[in-house]
Amino acid sequence: MGLQTVAVIGSGLMGRGIAYCAAAGGFRTALHDVSAEALERALSRIHLDLDEGVARGKLSKTDAAAAQGRIALEPELQSAVRGADFVIEAVPEDIQVKLATFARLDALCGDEVVLASNTSALSVTEIAAATRRPERVLGMHFFNPVPKMKLVEIVRALDTGDAAIAVTTEVARRMGKETVVVRESPGFITSRINAMIGNEAFFMLQEGVATAADIDKAVKLGLNHPMGPFEMADLVGLDTRLAVLEFLHKSLGEKYRPAPLLVQHVKAGRLGKKAGRGVFDYRERS
Ligand code: NAI
Repeated sequence: MGLQTVAVIGSGLMGRGIAYCAAAGGFRTALHDVSAEALERALSRIHLDLDEGVARGKLSKTDAAAAQGRIALEPELQSAVRGADFVIEAVPEDIQVKLATFARLDALCGDEVVLASNTSALSVTEIAAATRRPERVLGMHFFNPVPKMKLVEIVRALDTGDAAIAVTTEVARRMGKETVVVRESPGFITSRINAMIGNEAFFMLQEGVATAADIDKAVKLGLNHPMGPFEMADLVGLDTRLAVLEFLHKSLGEKYRPAPLLVQHVKAGRLGKKAGRGVFDYRERS
């Protein structure tokens, strides 16, 4: 396939990881952000990640230097997408910002260019409707940390065409990712399953079925999950987890009602690792 240049829009946590994978995968990569400071921060972080990749034997020094050379920081959107064959958007999760970004991308990019959004929960169909090419707009849902996480969920919106899915699968493959195709639906595959497991764990804790440590231990050692549901919820943030469940509850129904014990933890400010305390206490360890 002839795709050579990828533009990544938004250079925050996700955008910089996506740019890293695109450059390491051999694409010329233009990285754009409205904040010059964010762009500089992203570049130094990408350099650190490349150094770490070399230290861990994931890529050679020469390949890391080549990847570094393929990344261009672009403070102007217009220059970022000039010559781009494929665009991945990772701006904040705000529908107005996404709609404005896609309307501009549509005006600036060649007709054949596929526009992908890394949105976690917004409607890709609504985002696609801001363009005149809805058949070439889809979701490309990466996971944090992007350089390490293998999966990309490709989200098919109402009018997404098969050709756009095929191009995106190929781009993801060259970025070293595995893909699944999901019809646009709340929580896609991963967030929906994960929220459900986490919520069930809170119901079990609330009912006194077992201690939090034992529920985590059972899921890790008995079901072979790399992390227990509480360890995972503490890492994600209980407020974030609650917001996802509230969204699933509103859009998919009663089955997703957040466990009262989870709501209580959030009200208490026990938001997880970032707050020093969630289900588990991290204060004396740090
Ligand atoms: P972030 O806040 O770290 O980065 C967003 C970046 O976009 C910032 O650097 C900001 O300066 C820039 N920005 C703001 N407005 C812009 C505009 N109009 N044009 C260009 N750049 C602009 O956010 P993060 O976490 O990287 O999230 C980005 C997207 O990825 C969101 O839609 C989020 O839901 C999604 N996502 C986040 C995951 C996570 O674990 N953080 C996981 C999967 C998806």
